[in-house]
Amino acid sequence: MNKIILIIIVSVSSSLINGQVNAGGVETLQSTYLEQGAGPFSASAGETMWRKQYLDKKSGKQRSCQTCHGRDLTKAGKHVRTGKVIEPLAPSANSERLTKVKFIKKWLKRNCKWTIGRECSAQEKGNFLAYLKGL
Ligand code: HEC
Repeated sequence: MNKIILIIIVSVSSSLINGQVNAGGVETLQSTYLEQGAGPFSASAGETMWRKQYLDKKSGKQRSCQTCHGRDLTKAGKHVRTGKVIEPLAPSANSERLTKVKFIKKWLKRNCKWTIGRECSAQEKGNFLAYLKGL
């Protein structure tokens, strides 16, 4: 009897912990950025950078985060080079979004480089996440 109760407690609490870890992708990263001296984070600064057009000197074309993710982040976007569908970025439309620290880090690095032509600072990444998590 006690064993059964223990198993129930363990499985319920481990699923709670997993849930927290998943939901905390943004919070985990933002606290890392705070430790690096960045912050406080601004959703509106994130939005401004998100919409801004950056000139790619090589191609002479403008790029923005919207180039692939589209204007409405509750809808799917389309990768400008491969044509692949990119699922909605807004967590309200896609609960898997912004949940995995590794995934967020990898794509912020890649996408900043491609779009802006350099890696983003801790402040800028924190701002992007502040903007995106509220969508
Ligand atoms: C060249 C196309 C492209 C551009 C431009 C682009 N992204 Fe992305 N982004 C992707 C792809 C592809 C993925 C990964 C596939 C997916 O998430 O469906 C992704 C994923 C992400 C993720 C991870 C989301 C998650 O679920 O955790 C974030 C955050 C992100 N992008 C932010 C940005 C920001 C900020 C910019 C502008 C600086 C930007 N993206 C510009 C293609 C792009």
